[in-house]
Amino acid sequence: MPRERAFLVGAELTGGRSPWSAEDSLQELALLADTAGLDVVGSAYQRLKQQFSKHFIGPGKVEEIAALRDELKYDLVIFDDELTPGQTRNLEDTLKVQVLDRTGLILDIFATHAHTHEGRIQVELAQYKYLLPRLRRQWLHLERQAGGGGASAGGVVGLRGPGETQLELDRRMIGHRIALLERQIEEVHRHREQYRERRRKNGVPIVALVGYTNAGKSTLLNALSGAHVRAEDRLFATLDPTTRQIDLPGGQQVLLTDTVGFIQKLPTQLVAAFRATLEEIREADLLLHVLDITHKNAAQQTDTVLETLKELRAAERPIITVLNKVDLMEGVDEREVGRLAGELGLPDDYVAVSAQRGWGLATLLQQIEDTLGQRMATLEAFIPYKRNDLVALWHQRGVIDTEQYEAEGTRISGRIPATIAMQLAPFRVEQPV
Ligand code: GTP
Repeated sequence: MPRERAFLVGAELTGGRSPWSAEDSLQELALLADTAGLDVVGSAYQRLKQQFSKHFIGPGKVEEIAALRDELKYDLVIFDDELTPGQTRNLEDTLKVQVLDRTGLILDIFATHAHTHEGRIQVELAQYKYLLPRLRRQWLHLERQAGGGGASAGGVVGLRGPGETQLELDRRMIGHRIALLERQIEEVHRHREQYRERRRKNGVPIVALVGYTNAGKSTLLNALSGAHVRAEDRLFATLDPTTRQIDLPGGQQVLLTDTVGFIQKLPTQLVAAFRATLEEIREADLLLHVLDITHKNAAQQTDTVLETLKELRAAERPIITVLNKVDLMEGVDEREVGRLAGELGLPDDYVAVSAQRGWGLATLLQQIEDTLGQRMATLEAFIPYKRNDLVALWHQRGVIDTEQYEAEGTRISGRIPATIAMQLAPFRVEQPV
């Protein structure tokens, strides 16, 4: 089946706060379109003092785009910014093709990439919330499809996911569905909270991978855990959180969790719908910020990630910055990497790695251990042999400095997560001052 042809439109608001230029943002939109299975046949952008309420861009620009239709034969026009339902309608009436915005496109990609129950209900909720005010457009779209229009198999042009039967539901029914999905998400949220509580009790630290989409988080998770998580050169290949257990050099176990990649202009519906998943980040003991140091927009991507962490109220977590893909900089010496990191305003305790080649992983694991170690309590205890379970727990969860077997039990000193230190309190040996 031929791929649908998309024309992209961007706008740069003069005086806007975004560190992204319209060109770079449009290039990223082109990647998103490609990920959604579309062919990009052209693009245009306009510098604006402020957006026009009717068409978002100015009337002259709209005419220009309309005039390119015969030559470029585009099937749909995608705007790089979120359009109001009214603007979408006006644009469709004028351009006589389907109009989508960045949010709609990202939702479409998410719908095809969500595989778990949790991922699916979150995307479905976000889609319905997006759909509700745009319902008229969807009805028109359905009519077009029913009339033998050329929508692709998954229906990229509209919103894929809820499926045609659900699209036939009226506004009220969609309202019910949203309420149901919200209850299900609340359930997921409770479930995760209980799970986290259990993890907190047994003291296994959580390390969460965060970063811009395509930075290499899944590849790093695989490299560190020997797991086989899908890593693809596509945006948002990972949608569902994946967690793996790994051992640090000192024998301590931690849980490493991969989360949805960030992107500039991340649709607010998605952030809200993905609250349960994104909470993993806020609850983590340590964040690994994975950054593709070779990307030409590394600075803007860093900015977007740090801003998103702020929005998620996770910016205060301890962070290790992981500069990934250094294999692509072969021949470039460490000082150059350091200079780049300095230019990006990154803290100097970054670790440079190649997740793909396995470079720098030992250093990274050591740094994870050291950073987590700083968050543990230092303790000396004498544990009777009948409580050898606690000795085993210390081995698994903490760091042991000295260990001596005596007649009645084991004398240990080292560091251990605070929750476990509480269980060891009765066996604590006061250290001489
Ligand atoms: P999202 O799922 O979009 O959030 O992406 P991600 O951050 O999980 O990235 P992923 O691990 O899927 O990697 C994206 C692309 O970068 C894939 O094509 C990887 O093979 C490639 N990649 C990851 N790490 C490295 C690396 O160290 N070197 C090189 N050259 N490529 C890498």
